[in-house]
Amino acid sequence: MFSDILIQIDGKKIETRAGLNLVDVARNAEIFLPSLCYHKHIDPPLGTCRVCACKVDGQTRAGCITKTYDGMEVEIQTAELDDLRKAIVEMMFSEGNHFCPACEKSGNCDLQHMGYEMGISHTRFPHLFKDRLIDFSPQRMLIDHNRCIKCRRCVEEVITDDGLQVFSYCNKGNETLVGIDYDQEAKLTEQQAIEAMQLCPTGAILVKGKSFPHPFGDRRFDMQSVIKNTPNKHQTLNMIDTARPKERKIIATTSLAGCFGCHMSMLDMDLVLLDLIQLVDFNKSPLTDIKEFTEKCDIGLIEGGCCNAENIEVLREFRKKCKVLVTVGECAIWGGVPAMRNTIPLEECLEEAYLNSITTHPGECKVPYHEDLPKILDKVYPCRDIVDVDFHIPGCPPTANHIWKVVSQVLWDDDYSILYSEFKYD
Ligand code: SF4
Ligand code: SF4
Ligand code: FES
Repeated sequence: MFSDILIQIDGKKIETRAGLNLVDVARNAEIFLPSLCYHKHIDPPLGTCRVCACKVDGQTRAGCITKTYDGMEVEIQTAELDDLRKAIVEMMFSEGNHFCPACEKSGNCDLQHMGYEMGISHTRFPHLFKDRLIDFSPQRMLIDHNRCIKCRRCVEEVITDDGLQVFSYCNKGNETLVGIDYDQEAKLTEQQAIEAMQLCPTGAILVKGKSFPHPFGDRRFDMQSVIKNTPNKHQTLNMIDTARPKERKIIATTSLAGCFGCHMSMLDMDLVLLDLIQLVDFNKSPLTDIKEFTEKCDIGLIEGGCCNAENIEVLREFRKKCKVLVTVGECAIWGGVPAMRNTIPLEECLEEAYLNSITTHPGECKVPYHEDLPKILDKVYPCRDIVDVDFHIPGCPPTANHIWKVVSQVLWDDDYSILYSEFKYD
């Protein structure tokens, strides 16, 4: 490529051309600069998300809207900038309702993919659980305003054959929404609507009756990292290296408001479990059916969040009895699928479940209440809202590989390297 300038990125000298954007230049030089609103066919770049934050000659800038010039000094891979970019993406997850395990876009979603690439296992911000409109009124599309990150891609690029916009911003500040012009939307061909769905970096725009055709394991972001040198091959669990002496440890596991999928995943260790029981004793755990703690444990693995008073009691006891506490899976980390009820008042949820559902006979059912039943909470809480948590293992459920690697790293300081294909939210 013809080059006319010399710049530095993280101290590396790069010959390039003046006037290019830093996201492209960094990636061509095999330096990963995350991005979300940036799309190679949208010119000028939108610059709305700030996920591409970097420092240019000491000033924090959005890389996608910063043009190269001779002698510029760029910082990308610093602890401060990594943390800043992660915080922006974490805020997007907290601000919207991103229930990845129940989302049609999962595996094909740019936001989710950036979370994987940046190693985000949980958000440091509380989830807002807003109840925004899911708009089924358009002819071809449905718009889930809870998933929109206001990137502006659709506003700029989804245009009818008459040259009219289909989307536009309405309201201001925190109330900003992407509005859709129903008349213009109705003029889009099916192919144009599908292209709009693909252009959206989240699952905010979907086309009715058209889902993503690839099965799990074969979706756009299932296996491959865009970061060079990240091992992408799927590996199976190695047998435990019994030659290396390991101190015997005690493990506890329990399930709160979860589906037991994470425990099923633990059992997927298969033959490794036989090695594992040579090295660990399971104390309180549904895997051994030991219901009460008999001793203090080295590590406690928690599946599920807290939806009732009993969950909180069990979790607090677990924290007291385990030196290290690990939340396993999305429900334990931030509420997960059970937290879908957090956007709806509790009373309405109970009425829907016990009085108005299609399996109840009108007048014959009531909301169950008894003093022996655990009291249901106003919403589903993540474990870390109740007790201190040391580590999080994301996934719904996390793979056996992922769980095992974390446990062996914590217990015996073994090598810790999670493959891209193992770090998932769904
Ligand atoms: S797949 Fe994407 S849009 Fe869907 S819930 Fe997850 S992050 Fe949100
Ligand atoms: S609907 Fe999608 S493309 Fe449009 S602004 Fe929201 S996230 Fe971006
Ligand atoms: S990717 Fe640069 S601001 Fe969004």
